[in-house]
Amino acid sequence: APILRRDYRPPAWRVPTIHLDVDLAAAETRVRARLEVERNAAEGALGGPLALDGAPGMVPSSVTVDGHVLDEGAWRIVDDQLLIDLPGAAHVVETDIAISPEKNTQLMGLYASGGLLCTQCEAEGFRRITFFPDRPDVLSRYTVKMTADRTLYPVLLANGDLVGEGDAGEGRHWAEWHDPFPKPCYLFAMVAGDLKANRDSFTTLSGRAVQLGIWVREADLPKTDHAMAALKASMAWDEQVYGREYDLGIFNIVAVADFNFGAMENKGLNIFNSRYILADPETATDADYDAIAGVVAHEYFHNWSGNRVTCRDWFQLSLKEGFTVFRDQEFSADQGSRAVKRIEDVRVLRAAQFPEDGGPLAHPIRPDSYLEISNFYTATIYNKGAEVIRMMHTMLGAEGFRRGTDLYFERNDGTAATCEDFVRAMEDANGADLTDFRRWYAQAGTPRVRATLEHEAGTATARLTLAQTVPATPGQPDKLPMPLPLRIALFGADSGTPIVAERVHVLGDEATEILFEGVDEPPVLSINRGFSAPVIVETNRSAADLAFLSAHDDDPFARFEAMQQLMVDTLVAAINGGQADEAAVVAAVRETLTDPALDAAFIGEAVLLPSESFLGDQLPVVDPSAVRRARDSLRKRLGRELEPEWRATYAATAANRFEYTPTAKGLRRLHSVALGYLDACGAADVPALALAQFEGADNMTDRQGALGVLANGLSGERETALAAFYDRYRNDALVLDKWFTTQAIAMREDTADAVERLARHPDFTLANPNRMRSLVGAFAANQYAFHAADGRGYRFVADMILAADTLNPQSAARLVPPLGRWRRFEPARSALMKAQLERIVATPGLSKDVFEQVSRSLA
Ligand code: ARG
Ligand code: ZN
Repeated sequence: APILRRDYRPPAWRVPTIHLDVDLAAAETRVRARLEVERNAAEGALGGPLALDGAPGMVPSSVTVDGHVLDEGAWRIVDDQLLIDLPGAAHVVETDIAISPEKNTQLMGLYASGGLLCTQCEAEGFRRITFFPDRPDVLSRYTVKMTADRTLYPVLLANGDLVGEGDAGEGRHWAEWHDPFPKPCYLFAMVAGDLKANRDSFTTLSGRAVQLGIWVREADLPKTDHAMAALKASMAWDEQVYGREYDLGIFNIVAVADFNFGAMENKGLNIFNSRYILADPETATDADYDAIAGVVAHEYFHNWSGNRVTCRDWFQLSLKEGFTVFRDQEFSADQGSRAVKRIEDVRVLRAAQFPEDGGPLAHPIRPDSYLEISNFYTATIYNKGAEVIRMMHTMLGAEGFRRGTDLYFERNDGTAATCEDFVRAMEDANGADLTDFRRWYAQAGTPRVRATLEHEAGTATARLTLAQTVPATPGQPDKLPMPLPLRIALFGADSGTPIVAERVHVLGDEATEILFEGVDEPPVLSINRGFSAPVIVETNRSAADLAFLSAHDDDPFARFEAMQQLMVDTLVAAINGGQADEAAVVAAVRETLTDPALDAAFIGEAVLLPSESFLGDQLPVVDPSAVRRARDSLRKRLGRELEPEWRATYAATAANRFEYTPTAKGLRRLHSVALGYLDACGAADVPALALAQFEGADNMTDRQGALGVLANGLSGERETALAAFYDRYRNDALVLDKWFTTQAIAMREDTADAVERLARHPDFTLANPNRMRSLVGAFAANQYAFHAADGRGYRFVADMILAADTLNPQSAARLVPPLGRWRRFEPARSALMKAQLERIVATPGLSKDVFEQVSRSLA
């Protein structure tokens, strides 16, 4: 039965302290837990026995209350919970259990990864380690004693401060950690292994010294400097921008090779997927470097937005995730190019969140129900959640927003809070009324804004009509309008200058009209500048207007957006067999490419055509072949007609010695974009040019950029480069992932065949989430290849989902959404997709994770 948000009740019992005594070994780990429990006197609290969550098959070898071992009849296991009737208001409860980390393929709870033992508890992994009320509103002080073999596990880490260590005899040793901050069990962490630390320190604003450690296998130590620099920059940024200081004497990060998602903010002991820590020029692209800084910052920022103030229940997940994503986005914007960062973030939102919001899995950023919470770590909770926070920032201004967060942290420190607490702090700190704005938390679906600008030359006025609609989503047929802040400006088409300076208009109603006076030349509308609201805007702007904005708008995002819209309009017209103004796109791209005032990083973003899947999203019914044809034709035309410009750009951006600076990054980006367009124009020398770039590169960005271009083609150079890449990196799992991905996203007729072959490659495994995503996840995002007309892409992904589900349900469930979009495709493909979903759902023994995603997709 689904869990409902409205059913929330405070817990029956509190657990102010917990002591864990953990005897670690890969085959069998013994966990003895000692809980001080007290009945919760809070109003509305649940009653009844002490209920401690466990996992299927878990049975304690003993249960003790107040020092007395209970008879087997005095406790029972019901629905994986250990139930104990306790007469009084306060007791000490002890349990003893054995678990097997090496058999844990779900990678939730305590598991083994490449010789290490490590934990992942969010959302509900702690119950796989010991019996405990596994809900985020039960906060405890933890003491953890770890004992393990000294040779296999010389390093023993847990949350908080190290309070003791010593020899345990028989080649074993122990360490005891104490975390002074009460925390929910999802923030518990423990790591044992043969690790080495990159050590550093940070002095906080108030002068406290914090020891920093990034723990990895010895061979990876040289790849940790970038993450360390990002950590220190994050610590300083959170002090400057939010007034938040770190609060423990130690901050450790551990990198592990097998991890279900990006990273985890466990108090004082973050655990990371190694792909978000390890980097050097030889193995990591600029995008990897950026992602590392972003994720390191994200997890660090959680120390306040997530740990000091945590969530009351999992329906409030966006309270910490949306806010923390907003914080990491702003951190990255401040560190590098703000304009490019915004473009990238909007791309992610449109590629991952808009389709979710428009499909069967749509849910509000604060959902009302779930079957399996792991399925709600979505782009909606994270990325749309961040946009909702950003809108408050826009409406209240940076200072007002900061007043709001100060009040939020002050009021809620040490508690498990709700989204409502956040919004109320924003209101109270600013005397603002966000009553209607709260609809963003409750209503799913991407609002559409129709903006029509009319100019009356006679009265020198311009009339802007704005109308919004919020589409129906599953379970939410009727919607109310949502207040959305639109940054708006007008430019003069003749003078080429701004005629109405930017203003923020909060569109609160279904429709409104804005009158501009003194508009004595034809105006051009620039709207949703900086992507101030996460909505779809439809305007009555002509190709000429868009071309004008792409050359002259003074908001870089709006400039990018105008070019994108021009490209989309052209491509959609071509797909629909109508009049496509390809020449306008060619002219606009030429103008951007040759504008000396623009930096390379921006140009590299602006001249890229929208992806095939984004184009698919603009169509009522998707025919992936028609999308490919239209996009390819425009790509080739851009290549051919601008060949001299691409050649000049390619030459002008040629790399010097590797540097990780915004300027150097921008040049590398544009260099590979130019190579891609040269390839599109079909010049005979391109494979050789690409192979030379591939072989001569002193960094992964250039090497991978060349490989990506070669991989789309049919040249002999393609096979040379792929084989060389494999030989060079076969022992580096993170780089080998790129080898799989490059082939899975290739724009070739035989990609589906190649992917099926690669799934039988000796280096492919479903046991490692990165590897699985690098092939299957990447393939499912390759619209043309995944949607091969005979349906073999669908069958392949369904096979992978079923195979993965027996090992790791969370990872398996993440492959469902691409199939879940079946209603969007032309009838033949749609039926084939649906048939695969039906095959999956009819399979016996399905996990809750996959069952929920597939059944919602079919409903
Ligand atoms: N809180 C972690 C983060 O955002 C991610 C945890 C993901 N958990 C999950 N069950 N998917 O950094
Ligand atoms: Zn997070």
